[in-house]
Amino acid sequence: MKITWQGHSCFIVEAEGKSVIIDPFLNGNPTAKIKPSDVRVDAVLVTHGHGDHLGDAVEISKKNGAPVIGTFELVNYCTAKGASGHAMHIGGSYRFPFGRVKLTIAHHGSSADAGALGNPCGFIINMGGKSVYHAGDTGLFSDMALIGETNNIDVAMLPIGDNFTMGIEDAVLAVGFLKPRAVIPMHYNTFDMIKQDPEVFRKSLPRGDVKVEIMKPGESIDI
Ligand code: NI
Ligand code: MN
Repeated sequence: MKITWQGHSCFIVEAEGKSVIIDPFLNGNPTAKIKPSDVRVDAVLVTHGHGDHLGDAVEISKKNGAPVIGTFELVNYCTAKGASGHAMHIGGSYRFPFGRVKLTIAHHGSSADAGALGNPCGFIINMGGKSVYHAGDTGLFSDMALIGETNNIDVAMLPIGDNFTMGIEDAVLAVGFLKPRAVIPMHYNTFDMIKQDPEVFRKSLPRGDVKVEIMKPGESIDI
């Protein structure tokens, strides 16, 4: 599996010739290294309606004929704008040609120009024999222990930016609940309000328990 970070919460995950983009915030993302027109994917996963997550989902969906996957309310919003979509909801999973996706809770908001778009979510994505958890925007919640118990998580993508989401202290507790093999911090240093030093996150985690992958925007890792 290859994981590429475009800064903020935007990742492209590729395995076995299939690829998905999560939270495709590219236009207006000061850290993104690509444009929406560069993206070739089989699906567009969106955690919630805020502009820094929904981003260019509709455009990428249309160009690729790739469904937007997310909560019912968010997907309806996207399909009304001409995207294709596959609506799901929290606790539900579905096996797509690229892999399996399950929606998890996230404690946050979800609104766009049309108003509220229901609840935000996180994703558990199983592709190429690996399990990835993208938390979306959320505060810490103790059900992360259940997510960790019921999934053998290879990589967890966790926000550390504070202010709108978990900060470093709570993200460290989240790692304890989720017990992933590796963790990638996200949702930090895109804007001044979410400025964080990811090395503090690395140093706060028990040594040897988890691999901390501090990525540069545009960088890829293989897992
Ligand atoms: Ni948000
Ligand atoms: Mn956000």
